[in-house]
Amino acid sequence: MAQVGPVHWAGQLNHEAFGGIMSSIIPSMLAFIHLYFDYFLDFLYGLYYNSKKKIVSASKDPILELSATEMARKIREGELKSEEVVLAHINRIKEVNGLLNAVIDERFDAALEEARRVDENIAKGVYAGRDFKQKIFLGVPFTTKGTTVCKGLDVSFGLVPRKGMKGTEDAKVVENMKNSGAILLALTNVPQLSIWSEAHNPVFGITNNPYDTTRNVGGSSGGECSIIAACGSAIGIGTDIGGSIRIPAYMCGLFGHKCSPTVTPTKGLTFRNGSEQDRTMVVAGPISRYCEDLIPGLKAILGADACRSLQLDKKVDIAKLKYYFIEEMPSLLISPVRSDVMKSFRSVVEHFRKMTGKAQELEIEELAYTARLYTKALANEGNDFSYDVTNKKYRAVWYRELFKYIFRCSNLSFSSVMVLINAQVLRKATSEWFEENTEKIKSELLSKLGNDGVLFFVSQPTTAHYHHLSYLRPYNLLYFSLFNLLKFPVTQVPLGLSHDGLPLGVQVVSAPFNDHLCLAVAQELESVFGGYVPPNSQA
Ligand SMILES: *[C@@H]1O[C@H](CO)[C@@H](O)[C@H](O)[C@H]1NC(C)=O
Ligand SMILES: *[C@@H]1O[C@H](CO)[C@@H](O)[C@H](O)[C@H]1NC(C)=O
Repeated sequence: MAQVGPVHWAGQLNHEAFGGIMSSIIPSMLAFIHLYFDYFLDFLYGLYYNSKKKIVSASKDPILELSATEMARKIREGELKSEEVVLAHINRIKEVNGLLNAVIDERFDAALEEARRVDENIAKGVYAGRDFKQKIFLGVPFTTKGTTVCKGLDVSFGLVPRKGMKGTEDAKVVENMKNSGAILLALTNVPQLSIWSEAHNPVFGITNNPYDTTRNVGGSSGGECSIIAACGSAIGIGTDIGGSIRIPAYMCGLFGHKCSPTVTPTKGLTFRNGSEQDRTMVVAGPISRYCEDLIPGLKAILGADACRSLQLDKKVDIAKLKYYFIEEMPSLLISPVRSDVMKSFRSVVEHFRKMTGKAQELEIEELAYTARLYTKALANEGNDFSYDVTNKKYRAVWYRELFKYIFRCSNLSFSSVMVLINAQVLRKATSEWFEENTEKIKSELLSKLGNDGVLFFVSQPTTAHYHHLSYLRPYNLLYFSLFNLLKFPVTQVPLGLSHDGLPLGVQVVSAPFNDHLCLAVAQELESVFGGYVPPNSQA
């Protein structure tokens, strides 16, 4: 296997501007400088943050440690009442939310009422066998993120002018989840309009990581992952347009699945009305502590019919799959991968190499263009961030908003100003160049993966970094966004904790509509590498 660290990373660069020896020396030097600059930033932020670190206490209620699937089974079979399951989660949210600031709105009383009705109906034998089967999560509480519209709950999307506004009807994915019998409990924090890798906005503030409160929870489904990792919610609905399920799932040590395109009903996802389904990069999917919740979660969220094209119930023999891996994104905009992350990534590859006798490393030069490709893809989405971010009052221009931000009279979070700068200042790609290079990456991967191949991809170069460091490492999320650009399915899989007690994880990727392959490999990884580990579990 290739050597560790920045030298290998820079070695993958192929920059036409440099000839001969210079083509390896200069990028190597820059990578080296970048790595030490990154260490220096951690050191600096650590001086400020380290004395403030707290870890969420371990939960004492065994109900909270069950998977959502197991909760549903116990409720169905009368071993547990839905009411006690819902109440256990409400109590846990009350216990931890002061520390985490993950939940931003709730419907505890209504949820308890619905739980009691479920218990009554089960006792009366209202549900026949078939009904039980369709109601996969009957009586199980769930949460969703603040940009997924829920009737009666906050729909500010983190925007100041929308403060206090409540939803008038459920997003389709919420409606679907409710139809599976699950009970909506609460709404969780996001960055403005769900476009950033940290859950922070001027309406609700910042969400903390349960493994270390001075660390980023990721975004945009950050509040969602924070409360699920802390056992305050059994299962959550996430959405992912550039990593919004997988970034926080990685940083909080959870499972999350970004599904294949065209199967997600988009009505009620921020301002979307449902007409985007086939063209958008956004998908919805489950976030959970246990792998076994992903397939039922997908069926519940997307609806059983929509799921049929994902082949979720197809049997997979993981020993017969082909395994590929790419260790690092070849771009100087992105932090080099740290040694603890690389070590865990390589142990994953090694496991499947031993199982099958082979795991092949891929090199795709065009990955170096991911930043510009993804920016263009986001611009192609059709919705105008600069207009949406002012709640459609006017089109925001980056320098005016930056000026207002500096003089503290802005309604935008700094992340939104950064998004404007990225969209309005940086050189734009032409459609031709975009199509050509996206197609090159896609066809290269499709030719390898086919219908029996899986790609391992690093989730992030570092474990969850300190709060606000995302402003200085904005392009690290390209490890995730690449697969929105390509519209490939990905399962984010937790791999236990690193030496500093923060979650590790890996992305498992397949060709479109082979979601079942990612999910089968995720199951194997969970049983071998330990998956989710609760915060403070040794204490
Ligand atoms: C911020 O939002 C408030 C509430 O909607 C509004 O009155 C104010 O004009 C906004 N400020 C700016 C600078 O847009
Ligand atoms: C949904 O939104 C799109 C784009 O914003 C618009 O063109 C379309 O007319 C809308 N459809 C409905 C049914 O409101």
